[in-house]
Amino acid sequence: MIVQPKVRGFICTTAHPLGCAQHVQEHIDYVRAQGPLTKGPKNVLVIGASTGYGLASRVAVSFGGLKAATIGVFFEKPSDKKRSATAGWYNSVAFEEKAHKEGIYAKSINGDAFSQEIKDQVVEMIKKDWGSVDLIIYSLASPRRVDPKTGEINKSVLKPIGQDYTNKSIDMSTHELETVTLHGANEDEINQTVKVMGGEDWTLWIDALDQAGLLAEGAKTVAYSYMGPQITKSIYRGGTIGRAKDHLEQTAKDLDERFKRMGGRAVISVNKALVTQSSSAIPFIPLYFILLKKVMVAKGVEEDCMAQIDRLFRTALYEDPVVVDQEGMVRMDNLELLDDVQQDVQANWDQLTPENLKDFADLVGYRADFLKLFGFGLNGVNYDEDVEIDLPLPSNLS
Ligand SMILES: NC(=O)c1ccc[n+]([C@@H]2O[C@H](COP(=O)([O-])OP(=O)(O)OC[C@H]3O[C@@H](n4cnc5c(N)ncnc54)[C@H](O)[C@@H]3O)[C@@H](O)[C@H]2O)c1
Repeated sequence: MIVQPKVRGFICTTAHPLGCAQHVQEHIDYVRAQGPLTKGPKNVLVIGASTGYGLASRVAVSFGGLKAATIGVFFEKPSDKKRSATAGWYNSVAFEEKAHKEGIYAKSINGDAFSQEIKDQVVEMIKKDWGSVDLIIYSLASPRRVDPKTGEINKSVLKPIGQDYTNKSIDMSTHELETVTLHGANEDEINQTVKVMGGEDWTLWIDALDQAGLLAEGAKTVAYSYMGPQITKSIYRGGTIGRAKDHLEQTAKDLDERFKRMGGRAVISVNKALVTQSSSAIPFIPLYFILLKKVMVAKGVEEDCMAQIDRLFRTALYEDPVVVDQEGMVRMDNLELLDDVQQDVQANWDQLTPENLKDFADLVGYRADFLKLFGFGLNGVNYDEDVEIDLPLPSNLS
């Protein structure tokens, strides 16, 4: 089948298998070019491993010189033979193929990470294949979670708290500047968002592994958070998702007590704002990304997911002690939050009008970054050629 992008709002409903494989290869090439990592884990569980920060983490530990074994958990759709699979599916197929070719262990479990069933499957796999795990990366971004005990469905919302919020945003279909108002969340919406994106499920994963005796001496766990600047505060850190991140960060502190008793650590890595499938869905945020990227590129400090995670492993997570701020968090967002970066972004934001948008925003670059997430626009891929869309996960075949 010839696969072309079909974009609807902030999502692309098609993905290109060869383009996704090439995107994974670019991640691998990047970590390799930085030279071999000398310290790090051997057996790594990545929860949310198929795209964005989780995929970059999986690549860093396996291809950054450590050849770490990985089990990747994700929620993706394979092809139904008529439509392409999701990008995360193709990324994972490519990741496994490339890992297996180099004799690196890589298995994947596709299903709902919030469920007990998937936790049980992972526990069995680790018991059988590894005996213990020494790094657990928690990188889920999800709009809903079924509570495994009550069956209740919780939905996360991206809303301000306290009062309505109005600001500039970008219409993702027309790429035009618009004004958007979001209504303040009620208590129930805040609580549901915390249930989905807070730390409860991270704790349940650690409990499951701990109860099965699978946490190695000195094991570490890391979850990803976001802080952001003043511009996005009302909708991100001061909004419903911020409450969930507060909960995730408190969970890290609680888990850290447990991990320290085993000679290990549980930490948060606060990462930079980047275009991923999840972050594109947050109101106002894509406009901020677009402005941010242009400023960071001009200052020579721009990083993508892979560069962020490479730096996390190279400079912070496996240092002794782990490099953290006063709050105990690793700060990979330090370059995003540089004063001169934020001053320029704020100044550009304030001046933005529909007429001058193109002066401050690299819209063509943004669209290219967005399409790349779905395997489109990669060098060396012939998009006019027929491709096989129905690809199995190699580890499911063995
Ligand atoms: N993108 C950013 O700008 C940014 C910045 C800082 C921190 N973060 C954080 O990083 C983490 C990952 O975000 P991302 O932007 O890489 O997202 P992403 O959308 O690229 O990846 C999300 C991953 O979660 C998996 N997933 C979602 N629901 C699942 C479920 N029910 N069961 C199993 N897997 C499921 C997906 O398959 C995918 O692998 C989030 O906690 C996010 O808040 C993101």
